[in-house]
Amino acid sequence: MSKLEGFPKDFLWGAATSAYQVEGAANEDGKGLSQQDVINTERHKAYGFADASIASDHYHKYKEDIALFKEMGFTSYRFSIAWTRIFPNGGDEVNQAGVDFYRNLIKECKDNGIEPIPTLYHYDLPWALVEKYNGWLSREVVKDFEIYAKFIINEFKDDIKYWVTINEQSIIVQYWTQKCYVPEEYQNQNQLRYQINHHMNLCQAIAVKYAHEVGALAGPALGYSPIYARTCKPEDQIAALNANDLRNSYYLDVYFKGYYTVAPLTYLQENGLAPVIEEGDEELFRANISDFFAINYYDSQCAHACPEGAERSWSGYNLTGKKGDMSGFETHPGFYQMCPNPELDTTAWDWAIDPIGLEYVYRDLYTRYKVPFMITENGLGAYDDLTEDGKIHDDYRIDYLRAHIQATKRAMDKGVEVLGYMPWSALDLLSTSNGYKKRYGLIYVDRTDEDPKECKRIRKDSFYWYKKVIASDGTDL
Ligand code: BG6
Repeated sequence: MSKLEGFPKDFLWGAATSAYQVEGAANEDGKGLSQQDVINTERHKAYGFADASIASDHYHKYKEDIALFKEMGFTSYRFSIAWTRIFPNGGDEVNQAGVDFYRNLIKECKDNGIEPIPTLYHYDLPWALVEKYNGWLSREVVKDFEIYAKFIINEFKDDIKYWVTINEQSIIVQYWTQKCYVPEEYQNQNQLRYQINHHMNLCQAIAVKYAHEVGALAGPALGYSPIYARTCKPEDQIAALNANDLRNSYYLDVYFKGYYTVAPLTYLQENGLAPVIEEGDEELFRANISDFFAINYYDSQCAHACPEGAERSWSGYNLTGKKGDMSGFETHPGFYQMCPNPELDTTAWDWAIDPIGLEYVYRDLYTRYKVPFMITENGLGAYDDLTEDGKIHDDYRIDYLRAHIQATKRAMDKGVEVLGYMPWSALDLLSTSNGYKKRYGLIYVDRTDEDPKECKRIRKDSFYWYKKVIASDGTDL
């Protein structure tokens, strides 16, 4: 096969955001509170991070934002729908103003030649459902999600070709109290991490079913990091395999094969962590296989062997943005322990920078699942400085994005099917872990954690660079 010159003409170039991180207007036009409104008020305030009440004010400025996307040449925009704008309290009472907002947003995209790619769920469960039955902890959530998914997929059936179902289930398992509201009395019951995930798997299969009923395509977005062994010792290789099984395949096998990967499920069962699976659940998975895989790729990970006697722990955080301030590494005694990769440089928040890791992911997963991919997140979280003359010289972000686009091209040249590239993020937004200190956008939003100011939009250097990339079909990098 001859090498592609540039990217295909119909390649979806764009970028991504999520509702609570970018919209603001958290209490406007009938929107209900989401668990993120509460988590961000309680948790983020404690660390001096902004909450979600104004965020980047996309709710009011979406037309200006989409005009900027068009200027960059976007042909796609991945955003998420806030469940609480549509059904403020979960259940089935529709808030028409919320439906209208997304109808207008979708129309604005289409009028500007931009394919709207909505995500159904990006961490923002209606708070009313947390109050009613502890939210994702309860299987009751599946019924509420079904009402929401069925409604919204039908409502926009004429406009949406690709539905992204649920964002980053594996990251939700890792950071469950940050991504879900978990009442304190449950926070030491770690089996619930996997139970929540099982409820999400049911929801994601249901979403696929409704998307298929209206002739749309659907797929999950997973935060996906390949896991390397720290050394070539066989013990470390097995540990890396275990980590890949539990942190990656455990999710993908459900989406694309309809069953839980056996080795990690056995490990969870032996350790009292496995979810309760009811009769018929796996049949539901098998009947509703996803069409594409939406990859959120930021970094690769590394693992080594872990002795049986070690203490179990979960992934840590770097809250300071100083390299080396990671609070801990996931440890599963006798299975694996995560660790830094001595071969790779990191961001200020200790995320390993590894574009070859993305190439590895494409190649490995295309061989194993043979489904098309789209990148729905990829980006560099960094401190950005606004210069006195109103510029942001983010050459570090350009370097990062360039290397990952090149990795995408190398994989495509080997026959891997990639539909589009939507890095994180279209504009600066509320980082899930670091507020406005850590920025990802191609467009700068002039606000700080403390002061929302006017949220003025400023084109970063990466904005002009990406525009050139898109205009040249990815040849002028
Ligand atoms: C992904 C999420 O995990 O990573 C996004 O889907 C998130 O919502 C992004 O913003 C970057 O993570 P963070 O914690 O730096 O915002």
